[in-house]
Amino acid sequence: MARHLITSAIPYINGIKHLGNLVGSQLPADLYARYLRARGNEVMFLCATDEHGTPAELAAAKAGKPVADYCKEMHAVQAEIAKGFRLSFDHFGRSSSPQNHRLTQHLAGRLAEAGLIREVSEKQVYSHADKRFLPDRYIEGTCPNCGYDKARGDQCENCTKQLDPTDLIDPRSAISGSTDLEVRETKHLYLRQSDMRGKLQDWIDSKTDWPILTTSIAKKWLNDGDGLQDRGITRDLDWGIPVKKGEEDWPGMEGKVFYVWFDAPIEYIACAGEWAEAHGKTDADWERWWRTDRGADDVRYTQFMGKDNVPFHTLSFPATILGSGEDWKLVDYIKSFNYLNYDGGQFSTSQGRGVFMDQALEILPADYWRWWLLSHAPESSDAEFTWENFQGSVNKDLADVLGNFASRVTKFCRSKFGEAVPEEGTPGDREAQLIADLEKGLRVYERHMDAIEVRKSAAALRGLWVLGNEYLQDAAPWATFKEDPAAAAMQIRMALNLIRFYAIISSPFIPDAAAQLLAAMHSEKADWPESAESALVALPAGHAFTVPDVTFRKISDDERACWQEQFAGVRT
Ligand code: 2FM
Ligand code: ZN
Repeated sequence: MARHLITSAIPYINGIKHLGNLVGSQLPADLYARYLRARGNEVMFLCATDEHGTPAELAAAKAGKPVADYCKEMHAVQAEIAKGFRLSFDHFGRSSSPQNHRLTQHLAGRLAEAGLIREVSEKQVYSHADKRFLPDRYIEGTCPNCGYDKARGDQCENCTKQLDPTDLIDPRSAISGSTDLEVRETKHLYLRQSDMRGKLQDWIDSKTDWPILTTSIAKKWLNDGDGLQDRGITRDLDWGIPVKKGEEDWPGMEGKVFYVWFDAPIEYIACAGEWAEAHGKTDADWERWWRTDRGADDVRYTQFMGKDNVPFHTLSFPATILGSGEDWKLVDYIKSFNYLNYDGGQFSTSQGRGVFMDQALEILPADYWRWWLLSHAPESSDAEFTWENFQGSVNKDLADVLGNFASRVTKFCRSKFGEAVPEEGTPGDREAQLIADLEKGLRVYERHMDAIEVRKSAAALRGLWVLGNEYLQDAAPWATFKEDPAAAAMQIRMALNLIRFYAIISSPFIPDAAAQLLAAMHSEKADWPESAESALVALPAGHAFTVPDVTFRKISDDERACWQEQFAGVRT
């Protein structure tokens, strides 16, 4: 079987993510990882928190905590929520890890040796009150274009004009409000990405099977005059990875750190080192996933991310990897997502609008959210969460189609034949038809899952559930039983096997419900079905089962209305 490396974009440390963030990377990555494992592949699924940068520093200051403590706490919070959503990472690392420090410094050193780094002198605003250089967006003032008095140093939100901090009238620090600012000269490192345009172009052109969303963004930036400019990879901040050339100091770079977007993707690699450390493994154990000279050439590497992350993953990070001249694995496939909107507007972290991951789990179990989010993933365009749609999907797909099937079949069997698979009766034409339809549907489902077509996969899975419902409707064992108990026994034997079949093939989407149904079928160890035919005879006559508790409950109109109101406002 194949070896698959999977990474999800690593979420920023400051704050809990909303459902739009979840469906844009971590959740579909988990779906794919679970599917590949279920099909017998060796999988390494990695994610981490993205812990550097000004927002992390400011969030820590707001929380009144040292930034290292804040990050440690928030990492634990995010890890716990990820567990709640059943995100099956092999490791959930931290971009502030010693492994990432070492590797980021090492790669910067390699880039310097390759002549791909140049030093640039820049003018930057220093705030005496804050004792720090201020990034452009942390300087506020009056827009010279429209007079808006809360324009930011990078752009005026009111008239959208792009600005330089020095353009602002009456500039002040957005952190402290202080106007005691000074323009100072400071030196920074730039990565000569523009020198690598040819290599990057060839590499992207070779990826003919990538989703259009990914390649269109990559090509736009590659071919746009500004797109592949050299990029500053250092910042004047306290918190971050100190600028060093490997283990050596970098003259002139004292007190500076690498830019968060330089070290964040490197954490994909470092995270494998953290995994090795956490599990008592050797360097060789993680390097076989990442070093093509140490066994990773037969690994297929897939990345998941929202569309705003695509330029960093198609251009900047590959520039780092290629520029290092070392044998690191490059990504094979980038699955990117559009945005999920919330009930007529946008999810907003700053305004607390929409449902955040912790809140979602407080009101319903993970599978309800996983199913809705994945079956409505924003693949070909932006998508929208509405409570009506969520309620409809849960009540129909999960409660009526899947949950009710399991409940009716097991309860009927218990009442007429007892809690074991009944043995009488021989399958006929209707059963042959069912098997043929399931076989076809199963292959379609697998094809979509292999292609990471998330919505199509969900629709195909639901189609398989529907086939079982139609069969049950046609066969009507409760009616058959009156005239021909043996035939009813055979129909129920089919249906009990269907429950097990559904549990196995649904597990990437709804792992808890799948585990519950498998446990009810006394069939915890369950391999992916070879064929629908073999799956429908997997539970032999006499095999005991238990009637499961309610698998999915319905959402009432009152609950829907109440949640709609609860999440429209400001999160406190
Ligand atoms: O957009 C984000 O949430 C970033 N923290 C993603 C970083 S992905 C990678 F490069 F590490
Ligand atoms: Zn303006």
